[in-house]
Amino acid sequence: MNLEKFFEKSWIDYIKVTPSAKKILDLLESEGEIIKNDHIALRTFSHPKVHLDLFSEYFISQGYLKKDKYLFPDKKLRAFHFEHQVNPELPKIFVSELDLSSFNENYQTLIDRLIEKVPEKATFEELYELGNPWAGGLTYKEYEFLKNESEYAAWLAGMGFRANHFTVSLNHLKKYNSVQKINAFLKESGFSLNEAGGAIKGSPDTFLEQSSTMADRLKIPFSDGSFEVSTCYYEFSLRYKLKDGKYFQGFVAQSAGKIFESTDLKD
Ligand code: NI
Repeated sequence: MNLEKFFEKSWIDYIKVTPSAKKILDLLESEGEIIKNDHIALRTFSHPKVHLDLFSEYFISQGYLKKDKYLFPDKKLRAFHFEHQVNPELPKIFVSELDLSSFNENYQTLIDRLIEKVPEKATFEELYELGNPWAGGLTYKEYEFLKNESEYAAWLAGMGFRANHFTVSLNHLKKYNSVQKINAFLKESGFSLNEAGGAIKGSPDTFLEQSSTMADRLKIPFSDGSFEVSTCYYEFSLRYKLKDGKYFQGFVAQSAGKIFESTDLKD
């Protein structure tokens, strides 16, 4: 799977479960905007069959460089971002990984059971083709058990390997070129924003401002019936120039920590 295929598959899989993102894209395009993605985000578990290194291998083989590391101790996550070394127009890739060792035995056993569905020595490409190798393999009660301790684990159990979000680069928009403007537009158009820690994450001082919609919801199959879960959300980012005149390309852990909550299923 080359990068073109990877991005194409990612987008198709994403809008299947996130129709609001496609609606927002269409609305922006109907106003003459040309959409460029700042980054897309992927999630995984720290288990050796699916861990972050597998993702790294693939992106490095496709010309990406592994850049900064981020830690989210309260969510038991670590992450890296990747930038393409030749073509800066390609979206950055943000990959996070849930540290399974920090959960109790019952929790780990349940996740191990899901991961048993992953073929031995599967590559990232094989995983990504499978999408959700453990689809339908858990009860809704087990899903809730996961969710009580980690919304992230529950999301991954329900959704599998796919883009968690795409991110529109506001630097490339003409009319909606600030987070304030895009947020007002989204609200007027009837979309709900992730307000955790405020609708705007970050500031010019951190060189990155972000906002996101709340994830869509969809009924998915469990072993005991179909139930509604959080799917994916759409993100928006505005980057500022550093002192050297170049745009900041990294991420801000404090903001990203709040963005993760876009898939929290609030009642
Ligand atoms: Ni993001």
